[in-house]
Amino acid sequence: MRGRSVLLIIGGGIAAYKSLDLIRRLAERGVKTRAILTRAGAEFVTPLSVAALTTEKVYSDLFSLTDESEMGHIELSRAADLVVVAPATADLMGKLAGGLASDLASTALLATDKRILMAPAMNVRMWQSPSVRRSAETLARDGVLFVGPNDGEMACGEFGPGRMAEPLEIVAAIERALEIRGGALGGLKALVTAGPTQEPLDPVRFIANRSSGKQGYAIAAALAAAGADTVLVSGPVDIAASPHVKLVKVTTARDMLAACEAELPADIAVMSAAVADWRPDIAAGSKIKKGADHSIPTLKLVENPDILATLGHHRNRPRLVIGFAAETDDVLAHATAKRARKGADWIIANDVSTDDKGESVMGGDRNQVHLITATTQERWPQMAKADVARRLVQHITQHFQGTDS
Ligand code: CTP
Repeated sequence: MRGRSVLLIIGGGIAAYKSLDLIRRLAERGVKTRAILTRAGAEFVTPLSVAALTTEKVYSDLFSLTDESEMGHIELSRAADLVVVAPATADLMGKLAGGLASDLASTALLATDKRILMAPAMNVRMWQSPSVRRSAETLARDGVLFVGPNDGEMACGEFGPGRMAEPLEIVAAIERALEIRGGALGGLKALVTAGPTQEPLDPVRFIANRSSGKQGYAIAAALAAAGADTVLVSGPVDIAASPHVKLVKVTTARDMLAACEAELPADIAVMSAAVADWRPDIAAGSKIKKGADHSIPTLKLVENPDILATLGHHRNRPRLVIGFAAETDDVLAHATAKRARKGADWIIANDVSTDDKGESVMGGDRNQVHLITATTQERWPQMAKADVARRLVQHITQHFQGTDS
């Protein structure tokens, strides 16, 4: 870490006092910190203490002539190796997730070309509120890294997730984030498919399915965040891809296969797309009209190429091929058979039947999966799709570092 530098954005929260300790811990490790103190942050720690610990001027005002003449806010956002937000408040998370630039901190977050690590700290109910959940999901998908929050007693007397990670935990996360540049998966190329495919029947009609693409987009973001050179081949969905991935948009299964093959060779393939198994044998060039006799057309379907199986048996086969198995019954048995049949190394099996509340994993934000390898079957607890993505990437990293069992 020695010789690296961090731009620390201190948001307004009681945990801001821990950020002073964080600066000290970083200094002990030879990491230089420059700080932006938000107006709310300055209610909790003084600019003087931050300046004394960083031995640098503290920045707080977007429209300060003196600040801008010394170092413009764009340069400030890019001069460091990493941007760390601690405490990351609901306000700062929401601003970045929503693309707002209303003060120096949010402007720097939008303008930076460096990775962002957030250490959230807030009341447990705030952390669990749908709005903050949305912000966290969006940010994770965009490749923002997180450390914490931890469970525990909060300053407000409530108990649960919301406490900012301890300074040494943040230091460890900074260390990992700084390594990403060389990268835990640096130098490796990853290919991810996501979303549904659409198989046209005529210019206005198609066959598709309910896939939202959320899981695949989260996996692509997590792979990119771990340093992999990541290509995301996506069917039609309306979610934003991490700016750190190369997005290739396709419509049909055949386009998706062609786009994947064009990206080979790759080291890692994660096939999470819900590819349509069949397509109409003929896509009519003009809209199919009702005949005078109101006869109902018969659809003849033909089989689509299986992208996972094609890559799994390809002469240019990626070194690690991971597929999904969306099942509604006998999840493990079907998934295990699918792994062998499609030539995959690992299968992520998920139950896509609706739960007791009638909700399906397709389109939802959470997922409960099993990781099936040649020798192991691991049940993961239900978690956010972004967390499934991060956990999968941890396994991938261990695999390439040769530390998995
Ligand atoms: N898959 C693919 N190309 C296809 C069909 C599936 O690449 N034409 C991939 C999916 O991306 C996923 C895995 O194969 O990684 C399994 O998909 P799933 O829909 O569960 O399996 P199917 O092959 O469609 O089998 P079945 O419908 O019989 O369960």
